[in-house]
Amino acid sequence: MNPKTGSADEDKRKRRQEEGAKVAEEPQVRTKYATIEDIPGVGPATASKLMEMGYSTVESLATAAVNELVRAGMSDKAAMRIVSLARDATEVRFVPASEILARRANIQRLSTGSKNLDGLIGGGLETMTITEFFGEYGTGKSQICHQLCINVQLPFGKGGLGGNALYLDTENTFRPERIVQMAKRTGLDPEKVVSNIVVAEAYNSDHQILILEKADQIIKANNIKLIVVDSLTSHFRSEYLGRESLAARQQKLNSHLHRLERLTVAFNAAAVVTNQVMSRPDDFFGLGAYPVGGHIVGHRSHTRIFLRKAAGGKGNRVARLVVSLDRPEGECVFRIAEEGISDVEEE
Ligand SMILES: Nc1ncnc2c1ncn2[C@@H]1O[C@H](COP(=O)(O)OP(=O)(O)OP(=O)(O)O)[C@@H](O)[C@H]1O
Ligand SMILES: [Mg+2]
Repeated sequence: MNPKTGSADEDKRKRRQEEGAKVAEEPQVRTKYATIEDIPGVGPATASKLMEMGYSTVESLATAAVNELVRAGMSDKAAMRIVSLARDATEVRFVPASEILARRANIQRLSTGSKNLDGLIGGGLETMTITEFFGEYGTGKSQICHQLCINVQLPFGKGGLGGNALYLDTENTFRPERIVQMAKRTGLDPEKVVSNIVVAEAYNSDHQILILEKADQIIKANNIKLIVVDSLTSHFRSEYLGRESLAARQQKLNSHLHRLERLTVAFNAAAVVTNQVMSRPDDFFGLGAYPVGGHIVGHRSHTRIFLRKAAGGKGNRVARLVVSLDRPEGECVFRIAEEGISDVEEE
């Protein structure tokens, strides 16, 4: 029992947080070699060639196709040797499913402000999971992010996680004034709500990656329970142009998301990322739009929600659950209004 709060729950929460922090401090790469340059025989020139091809980690080399490395100018023998060394060095852990079940028992839910939208995804955004909102401009991705930064500060049982938010802003679209406006209906002190949001502005994709690499201490010190990356893909899209840079871009995005995923597990936090899509009538989702991050973002984001404007009501939006590991696909309508995200009232 915690003497200050007298709450056993509080004790449990603190303990989990401390455990979480321990996990976060573990080295990121569980391989014998920290970087690809540490692999015997991979000099700086080979390393930079491999990086160009998108192989920036030892794990990525462990699963690389030998013939792809050969196509990039490496000899058969060298390629085989590098892949084999990377494979030997990469630790693979087998754990009983009960260990995963025990971890998942700690999952908490964060409300979006719309009961229908929460219901669509099983009761709100899950902690230890990345939730991606994708849609065209103006469909409400950033508005949802703002609302979540407020809701996370609500106590457990009121839709919140009793913690604070980290907002990684890549497009300069974070607006504290909007937070104040939306916070009013929650009963929380709007000024306090604003001061509990830590903002990091990312100037380019490398800076964006670095911010998450360095986020452990900030997350721990500020009791961060929600990590927002808005937008996940804009810098990557503008910097990595053309087909030849696609592999490198996906590789970077993949490892960035991997880092985010680890932080959510370590701190039992929720994560939300946004992804703008372009209109494309012939796309593979059949949604009339194509997600910029492509398939790789799809793999890493455990829950993907497509947003579009609804016919009729000005602030009305349709959310469609496209990918979820354990929920059926489905749709719902919600509203963006001055007070924030809510359900559409029946008239
Ligand atoms: N104060 C407000 N009151 C009511 N609706 C608002 C308010 N502020 C924003 N909105 C609504 O939210 C929309 C903007 O949504 P948002 O900025 O979240 O889009 P987005 O999906 O992030 O777009 P982008 O891809 O360009 O980043 C506006 O077009 C408007 O409909
Ligand atoms: Mg936006």
